[in-house]
Amino acid sequence: MCSFNIPPIVLQLFLLLFLASPTTACTDEEKRNLLQFLAGLSRDGGLATSWRNNGTDCCKWEGISCNGDGAVTGVSLESKGLEGPISPFLANLTSLLCVNLSHNSFSGGLPAELMFSRSIIVLDVSFSRLNGLLPELPSLVTTDRPLQVLNISSNQFGSEFPSATWKVMKNLIALNASNNSFTGHIPSSLCIGSPSLALLDLCYNQLSGDIPNTLGNCSKLKVLKAGNNHLTGILPVEIFHTTSLEYLSFPNNGGLQGELNGAHIVKLSNLLTLDLGGNSFSGTIPESIGQLRNLEELHLGSNNMSGELPSTMSNCTNLKTIDLKINNLTGDLGKVNFATLQNLKSLDLMKNNLGGIIPESIYSCSNLTALRLSDNHFHGEISTRIGNLKHLSFLSLTENSFTNITKTLHALQSCRSISILLIGKNFMNEAMPPDETIDGFQNLQYLSVQHCSLTGRIPIWLSKLTNLKTLELFNNRLTGPVPDWINSLNHLFYLDVSNNSLTGEIPVALMEMPMLKSDKPAIFWDPRLFDLDLLIYAVDPSKLQYRINSDWCKLLNLGNNKFTGMIPQEIGQLKALLYLNLSSNNFYGEIPQSIGNLTNLQRLDLSNNHLTGEIPAALEILHFLSEFNISNNDLEGPVPTTGQLSTFQASSFNGNPKLCGPMLINHCSSVEAAPISIISAKKCSSNVIFVTAFGVFFGVGVLYDQLILFRYFG
Ligand SMILES: *[C@@H]1O[C@H](CO)[C@@H](O)[C@H](O)[C@H]1NC(C)=O
Ligand SMILES: *[C@@H]1O[C@H](CO)[C@@H](O)[C@H](O)[C@H]1NC(C)=O
Ligand SMILES: *[C@@H]1O[C@H](CO)[C@@H](O)[C@H](O)[C@H]1NC(C)=O
Ligand SMILES: *[C@@H]1O[C@H](CO)[C@@H](O)[C@H](O)[C@H]1NC(C)=O
Ligand SMILES: *[C@@H]1O[C@H](CO)[C@@H](O)[C@H](O)[C@H]1NC(C)=O
Ligand SMILES: *[C@@H]1O[C@H](CO)[C@@H](O)[C@H](O)[C@H]1NC(C)=O
Ligand SMILES: *[C@@H]1O[C@H](CO)[C@@H](O)[C@H](O)[C@H]1NC(C)=O
Ligand SMILES: *[C@@H]1O[C@H](CO)[C@@H](O)[C@H](O)[C@H]1NC(C)=O
Ligand SMILES: *[C@@H]1O[C@H](CO)[C@@H](O)[C@H](O)[C@H]1NC(C)=O
Ligand SMILES: *[C@@H]1O[C@H](CO)[C@@H](O)[C@H](O)[C@H]1NC(C)=O
Ligand SMILES: *[C@@H]1O[C@H](CO)[C@@H](O)[C@H](O)[C@H]1NC(C)=O
Repeated sequence: MCSFNIPPIVLQLFLLLFLASPTTACTDEEKRNLLQFLAGLSRDGGLATSWRNNGTDCCKWEGISCNGDGAVTGVSLESKGLEGPISPFLANLTSLLCVNLSHNSFSGGLPAELMFSRSIIVLDVSFSRLNGLLPELPSLVTTDRPLQVLNISSNQFGSEFPSATWKVMKNLIALNASNNSFTGHIPSSLCIGSPSLALLDLCYNQLSGDIPNTLGNCSKLKVLKAGNNHLTGILPVEIFHTTSLEYLSFPNNGGLQGELNGAHIVKLSNLLTLDLGGNSFSGTIPESIGQLRNLEELHLGSNNMSGELPSTMSNCTNLKTIDLKINNLTGDLGKVNFATLQNLKSLDLMKNNLGGIIPESIYSCSNLTALRLSDNHFHGEISTRIGNLKHLSFLSLTENSFTNITKTLHALQSCRSISILLIGKNFMNEAMPPDETIDGFQNLQYLSVQHCSLTGRIPIWLSKLTNLKTLELFNNRLTGPVPDWINSLNHLFYLDVSNNSLTGEIPVALMEMPMLKSDKPAIFWDPRLFDLDLLIYAVDPSKLQYRINSDWCKLLNLGNNKFTGMIPQEIGQLKALLYLNLSSNNFYGEIPQSIGNLTNLQRLDLSNNHLTGEIPAALEILHFLSEFNISNNDLEGPVPTTGQLSTFQASSFNGNPKLCGPMLINHCSSVEAAPISIISAKKCSSNVIFVTAFGVFFGVGVLYDQLILFRYFG
């Protein structure tokens, strides 16, 4: 049956109906209507067979429930693989109370007969591929309809969101129209027609215009969500009259603005979630927020908020999530006593103007799972007390002015859960701790210590990080070789040590990296690592395109160092590589033929070395190459005129006086005249499209330095 928990009346009704004499068989007329519904489908997912095999009493059919008079009261055919139109005959079942057709693959729209039925109280057609218009009020319908729950979410309904319909929906308690393509305004008639609404979810549509002040007429509203639309204007004062509100959620509309009025907000004392992220709100976070004692989630990220964090925030002891990233908050965090926030799991202050040292009280938040302080002006040393944060699995300190990397790493090794650690752009000109006593970090998957100008060598303690997948050490001043233990990092698939002063030849061990040799996908996300609501990411923008997809680019970047020697033949073993950069080193000798084995390569940079000989013909078959650079070497002979290499411009080949080819000043004397074939499946760049689509859908733009998303977090 249709189990449903909002209106208790419905349940009672059902109990009554089901306990009462269940023996009466269904009437012929009821049966006829059900068979008409079945006949209207183009695919029934085996329903016809099931019904046929279960006798003539339609009350005993799969998904059907009846009352004592043999009248059908419930149709629960969710996830039955039904296709084709929903037949209006269903509405001929005059005792029907509850219809659940969710998770099917219907075509066409929702019959007005069902929506304006004189009996149906629960109608769930979510996730059912319905499209077209939602029926507007037929002129014949003038009296109130009994409908209490309408779930049309996650379909493809488009066009204007209906406004007249609600005039006869006095009984409506829950309306979920999210994740469709509705346009137009939030109708101001909504809460006038349906004043009993407790749940209104309009998020993920294309609604525009202002938030109507009539929403304040829904005095029982608990859940109000209209995020990811194009709403503009301010939050009308009337909204703050609905004191039963538990979820007030308008994220990612972009255009909502104004200041949060402390005297207004404090009226919503039942608030659990306040989500206004991704808009244009300004002003300060009001002191009175401390009176919202039930508040669990505060999302004001990506707005234009300024001023200090109010110290009263420490009174919101139920807070689990604080998201204030990308604002203009200033001052010292020291005023807030975080020690009282024992439920805090996620604190995101990325990209503000906050300064001072990290207050000690943060280290008392023993449930903290994600802490992002990147891109602020924090300074000082990280206290050893950070080791108290046993659940911390994501930490980003990137782009502040923290000092003493040795102390920081020693302190963090007690954070046993840490899986992502991003500490780059701090610790300027310090020494990479060589220290063998650094231990722990068993769960670390992603370590970024980029752009610190650190001196020293690639330290031995890294060899203990056996779960490491991504290691970023670029933009430092590290010297010495790439150590031989590197191939013991069985999961490493992304190694960027570019722009250091590393020396020596490319070690054979590097040619043995298990993940770079194998086609096993480089899945960065381990869903078990995070609660869904904690997914967050911080990466370098230029590489964003590699990162968001679950299948990250397998990358080896040794560019801009002092490596020397020949490029080893064994490089051909790293078949999984999508990106290989050996540029700006002192490599000499020929380009090994075996590079032709790296058939997944999308970007290959061998420029600014001392490579000699001809371009190996084997490179022509690198069909996925979208970037190729061998400029400024001492190569000779013809550039291939067929295959992928012939598609690149002169800039890919310049600075090799002995090279000739049609794109160079230096034409070859006898040119092969094979046709140019261009095959390009740009896997890596298609991720950009993925990113954009994802960003648009979740309303999170691709931000310049950092950040990724998850609708549950952002
Ligand atoms: C309809 O069925 C789905 C799948 O079983 C269920 O999740 C949903 O809660 C049901 N709808 C209602 C209104 O009970
Ligand atoms: C209806 O018939 C199918 C066989 O087609 C059987 O699997 C199913 O259990 C029957 N359902 C009921 C409610 O008797
Ligand atoms: C049953 O529904 C169909 C389609 O809506 C309608 O044409 C027909 O008149 C209805 N029959 C009865 C007896 O109500
Ligand atoms: C549709 O919405 C109703 C009311 O919020 C809810 O009870 C039901 O579970 C939803 N259906 C699905 C499939 O989530
Ligand atoms: C509305 O439906 C969507 C699924 O389509 C669901 O994810 C969301 O939680 C529902 N909203 C509410 C407030 O229950
Ligand atoms: C939105 O609806 C589509 C189907 O139209 C579904 O695949 C997707 O999961 C829904 N998204 C959410 C967040 O419920
Ligand atoms: C941000 O807020 C400040 C005042 O705090 C205001 O002067 C400025 O115009 C706002 N910027 C935007 C883009 O809204
Ligand atoms: C941020 O606030 C500071 C100080 O209040 C101000 O000088 C600066 O212009 C603001 N920046 C933006 C982008 O609003
Ligand atoms: C870093 O911290 C350690 C431990 O507190 C201390 O011994 C050392 O002197 C500090 N280093 C610097 C450069 O301040
Ligand atoms: C190389 O790294 C240094 C820091 O060690 C940095 O200042 C410089 O800008 C980097 N160069 C490039 C080209 O990124
Ligand atoms: C390879 O590395 C060099 C030096 O770090 C950089 O300038 C160049 O842009 C990189 N090439 C590609 C294709 O990313």
